[in-house]
Amino acid sequence: MDLNGKIAVVTGAAMGIGKAITEILLQNGAKVALLDVNETAAESLMEALNKQYGQERTLFLKCNVESEEQIKAAFQKTTETFGGMDILCNNAGIMNESAWEQAVSINLMGVIRGTYQALEHMSKLNGGRGGVIINTASMAGISPLLSCPVYTATKNGVVGFTRAMAAASTASGYGIRVNALCPSFVQTELLSTITSKMGRFSHLVDKTEQLVEKLGMLSVSEVAECFLELVTDETKNGEALLVIPKVKKYATFPSV
Ligand SMILES: NC(=O)c1ccc[n+]([C@@H]2O[C@H](COP(=O)([O-])OP(=O)(O)OC[C@H]3O[C@@H](n4cnc5c(N)ncnc54)[C@H](O)[C@@H]3O)[C@@H](O)[C@H]2O)c1
Repeated sequence: MDLNGKIAVVTGAAMGIGKAITEILLQNGAKVALLDVNETAAESLMEALNKQYGQERTLFLKCNVESEEQIKAAFQKTTETFGGMDILCNNAGIMNESAWEQAVSINLMGVIRGTYQALEHMSKLNGGRGGVIINTASMAGISPLLSCPVYTATKNGVVGFTRAMAAASTASGYGIRVNALCPSFVQTELLSTITSKMGRFSHLVDKTEQLVEKLGMLSVSEVAECFLELVTDETKNGEALLVIPKVKKYATFPSV
């Protein structure tokens, strides 16, 4: 897929991985609607992006992925402003084992809400042009993170939902590819606060720190490069791309 002139929506776009994904989309000629709850971070990012890419290429919409109404309104505004929707990146996520119901609502239900609303605009069955949806899962979606069982569950859920949606899309003729991005530890705000958010598993902080030390950390731009591969390579559908420092591997699953 050539990104020039394509219209993309990124959730959790104001910081971290979502910000890097937004930037790589803009660098490759796409227009991007940035959805986030953090208005302060989004506004300062928008100022920088507008200077670099021009005001007509980006749009910030305050949107909490816990709200179906807000997602619906944001996608509607995106299609009205830019003239359609070709790419969705369901990226917004938190790690908080204490606020675990909110983690399920954002990390897993947010991806489902975003995907189902996107079908209204992107599916060929609804008059859309088709396109691609990339869900930011995690290495924890494939291999358990012992200090974060709920985070692990949400990310396994995202990988399963992605694979089933890809198959459903192919069988139904939506014209939409669906893939999951599964990075290990990435240098972002989420990772820097992880040790204070383990709740009942805070005694396992040392084990998590040892794992970070063993695997090393990814930069957000390394993750964005892998996102780009999943978007542009038309052969990728229903894939979970595991990204660890110096390792990039498509996950394999037992077939039944
Ligand atoms: N940092 C890591 O080590 C790592 C590793 C693997 C996967 N991930 C995943 O990558 C994604 C992005 O994480 P990050 O590390 O960039 O985190 P981050 O905290 O740096 O950025 C997350 C962004 O999402 C926004 N956000 C949070 N809740 C939201 C909501 N309800 N609605 C809309 N926006 C919301 C935040 O305001 C923020 O801008 C998450 O899904 C996370 O689980 C992160």
